[in-house]
Amino acid sequence: MIYFDCAASSLKKPPSVYDAYLDAMRRFSCGVGRSGYGAAVRAGELIYAAREDIADFFGMQSASGVIFTQNATHAINIALKGALSAGDRLVISDMEHNAVYRSALWLGSRGVSVDFSHAAHSDDETCESFAAAFERGARAVCVTHVSNVFGNVLPIRRIFREARRRGIITILDASQSAGSIRINMTDDFIDILCCPGHKGLMGPQGTGLLLINGDVTLSPLIHGGTGGASRDEDMPEYLPDRFEAGTGHTAGAIALGEGVRFIKSIGCEAIFDHEKSLAALMKRGLSKIGGVTVYEYGENTAGLFSFNIDALDCEQTAARLWEHGICVRSGLHCAPLAHKTVGTLERGTVRVSAGAFNKKSEADALLRAVRDIARGSA
Ligand code: ALA
Repeated sequence: MIYFDCAASSLKKPPSVYDAYLDAMRRFSCGVGRSGYGAAVRAGELIYAAREDIADFFGMQSASGVIFTQNATHAINIALKGALSAGDRLVISDMEHNAVYRSALWLGSRGVSVDFSHAAHSDDETCESFAAAFERGARAVCVTHVSNVFGNVLPIRRIFREARRRGIITILDASQSAGSIRINMTDDFIDILCCPGHKGLMGPQGTGLLLINGDVTLSPLIHGGTGGASRDEDMPEYLPDRFEAGTGHTAGAIALGEGVRFIKSIGCEAIFDHEKSLAALMKRGLSKIGGVTVYEYGENTAGLFSFNIDALDCEQTAARLWEHGICVRSGLHCAPLAHKTVGTLERGTVRVSAGAFNKKSEADALLRAVRDIARGSA
C-alpha cells in the first residue's frame, strides 16, 4: 500500500511513538494529575516533559501555555469561542477548513461579525486584503498556514505582524504545517496556535494542541475538574488547567512528546524539503499527462496538492488509484470555502499529500497509475 493521505493523518509513526503509547497505556492508566502515588506522579512528569519539548519546538515563552486537546478542531473551537463574543469582529481567510469556517459562522449567528479576506495567488495581494480588513477593526484574526486542499502556504508572518501592530489577537491553524514548516510563535507574532497531534507531529489520533504564547485571556469552552483549585467555582485562571478539564489522554500526550522529539531530531527543514520535492515531482509528471488538470495556487506551496483526471469524477479517480494500492483523499476535503476560492466547488478534487516517510519510488508509482487510469478513461 502507498499512502499519500498524510494531510488527513500520518499513518506511519516513529517506533518511539508506538513504544511510548503502549508503555503509558500499561503503566499510567491511573489518577494522573489527581493522585499522589508513584505512577500518577511519574505520568505527570512525563506529560510536563512533553509540554516543555513542545514549547521549545514552537518557540514559546512558557511550557504552561501548551494545552493538550483532542485534535485541531477542538483547539480551534476553544480559541475562537473563547476569544470572541457578540459585537466583536473576526477576520478569517477564504481558504479555511470547516473547523474554522463553521466555527466562524456559528459565532456569526451569535452576533460576531465575520470578515473574509482573500488568500490570493500572490502574497502581496493576500496581505493587502488582510490589511484592508484590519483597517475596519477586528478583535481576532484566524488563518490557515497551509491549505489542506491546494497546499498553498499563506504569508502568516506578514499578516500577523500587521495584526499585532493593531492589537488584534492572532490565531494560526497549523493543521497542515506543524511538523513540516518551522514555526516560532514569538518571531511569527502568533498568540494562539492550533494543530493536530496526529499529522505532521506524528502523535496518535485523538491528540491535538492549543498553544497560547503570552498574555491572551480566553473563556473556557469546557468546565469541570482539573485536579487543583477544587474549591473555586470558576475554572482556574492559570494554564494549562483552565483548558484541560477532565481526565486527559495520558498515553496520547506522552507519545505526542515523542513525535515532536523525533521531528526535532530530523529537523523541519529536511522534512519540508522532502515532502515538497516529492509533491513537485508528482505535479510536474501529472501536468505532462493528457487529460489531467493539476491545480497550482499560491506563490509558495507545501507537500500536498490537488488534481483531477478530466474524464472522471474525483471519487472515481480515487477509487481507481486504490485499485493500484494508492491511498489519496477525494471530494471537498471539509473545505468548501477553499474549493470555492479556487473554482473547484462543483467538481471537487483528488488530493495527494506526501509525508516524511514517503519515497520517490512511491511518487513514480502514482504517476504510472494515473497514466494508466487516464489512458483507459480517455
Ligand atoms: N483532516 C482533514 C483533511 O483530510 C483536515 O484534510
